[in-house]
Amino acid sequence: MSQMDDINSYLDDNFDAFVDHLRQWLEIPSVSTLPEHRADVAAAAAWAAGRLRDIGFPQVEVVATPGHPLVMASWMIDEAQPTLLVYGHYDVQPVDPVDLWLSPPFAGTLRDGNIYGRGASDDKGQIVLVMAALQAWAKVAGQPPINVKMVLEGEEEAGGESLAAYLPNHLERLRADAVLICDTHMVNDLQPSLITSLRGIVCAELAVFGARSDLHSGSYGGIAPNPLHALCLLLSRLKGEDGRINIAPLAEHIPTPSEAERQLWRDDSLGIASGLLAGMGVAESVGENDYPLLERIGIRPTLEVHGIVGGFTGAGSKTVIPAEAVAKISMRLPSELDPQQVFTWLEEAAQTLMPRGYRLEVRCLHSGRGMSANPDHPAVHLAAQSVEAVFGRPPVFLREGGSIPIAALFSELMAAPVVLLGFGLPDDEVHAPNEKFSLQQFRQGMKTVAHYLGRLRREENFSPAMPPPV
Ligand code: BES
Ligand code: MN
Ligand code: MN
Repeated sequence: MSQMDDINSYLDDNFDAFVDHLRQWLEIPSVSTLPEHRADVAAAAAWAAGRLRDIGFPQVEVVATPGHPLVMASWMIDEAQPTLLVYGHYDVQPVDPVDLWLSPPFAGTLRDGNIYGRGASDDKGQIVLVMAALQAWAKVAGQPPINVKMVLEGEEEAGGESLAAYLPNHLERLRADAVLICDTHMVNDLQPSLITSLRGIVCAELAVFGARSDLHSGSYGGIAPNPLHALCLLLSRLKGEDGRINIAPLAEHIPTPSEAERQLWRDDSLGIASGLLAGMGVAESVGENDYPLLERIGIRPTLEVHGIVGGFTGAGSKTVIPAEAVAKISMRLPSELDPQQVFTWLEEAAQTLMPRGYRLEVRCLHSGRGMSANPDHPAVHLAAQSVEAVFGRPPVFLREGGSIPIAALFSELMAAPVVLLGFGLPDDEVHAPNEKFSLQQFRQGMKTVAHYLGRLRREENFSPAMPPPV
């Protein structure tokens, strides 16, 4: 039996233990955006550090930051071998509306071949599968086949400021030949994918102010400014029913996709678009329907409203005209655009489009750059080969609609390729009630990562799989 066979057997034989690890981690409610969960986020960091020590990492540290802690680990086996930096996030999104969960969000419940819980797919499950792959190498071969560093953050879902601040000052500590991020999804359970770009994001608030206080809608209705209504008008001017975003400079700065990419979006031979429709449970998409769905997810900018706060929303009626209203919005941007720049365009457009008689404040909450990966880098080729070896099919290269802002910083500051190899599925319900991770994906993911670690090893007398370190 080859070493890879031993490793696969180890992963199969110990699969239940890995599921149990994930269950333990899912039980810790590490919601980074809610202050009341601060201690839980710290506990989730401590749990990860403990696991990494158990696996055999000689160096593990929980680093305090102004926000939530970073978990850093390294296992350097041989300086002639390449170094892989694994990034992941152990924080999770809030669970509301909690009533819609069929099992408790912080439990790790097994049902229908899936494990359910907040963070199962995004991103605890995908970190645990990397840990499993490393444990298999440690047990079968005594150590990983290459140098491995890990950095796990607890603020990804909250903007990721602490790691972004830490990174530029600790480049030497994090230095690697490639960065592996398992925090995306595949097309479906048969068709793996490697991500070639992530979209940038800017999150903002539009706050509209009218009268000096709330008003009786009988005494003042018809003459008073109504910030809620004005906000709706503003939103529909910023993005109309045709889905076009009315921010003039934006249209001029959308990158031109290659003809090959256009072709891929038009043909969509894998039927990804119908999968997206099925995933939403709707018959047709809205908005810019003159563009293929894949183009709209991958490269078109978006403007989405996440929530509107204002007025009276309790049971029954209350005849009041609110004095203010706030919309929480975000824009997704092709990786080439600078989100800060786009924010200034948004602010200008919103002030121009705002109905008269109101005061508008446009606030930037946070932003993160998109990223594009180099699909021709050997680290990406080796990932594709590993995927094919385990899934029996080569991955498709796709642009991802979601954002992982730290990926751009890795790629800019560390001059290392970022490999976006994710094992989630489109119906994992990430950020929504009933988040799950397929146990089959969990298993295949472990095997793929274990395989990848082996492939990255530079063998003597062989042409180097990875260019030697500089
Ligand atoms: N893992 C996701 C990014 C992602 C989403 C990848 C969908 C693939 C498909 C990540 O945890 C995430 O949710 N990112 C946020 C970033 C934001 C909070 C700055 C996002 O995309 O909304
Ligand atoms: Mn994630
Ligand atoms: Mn997320």
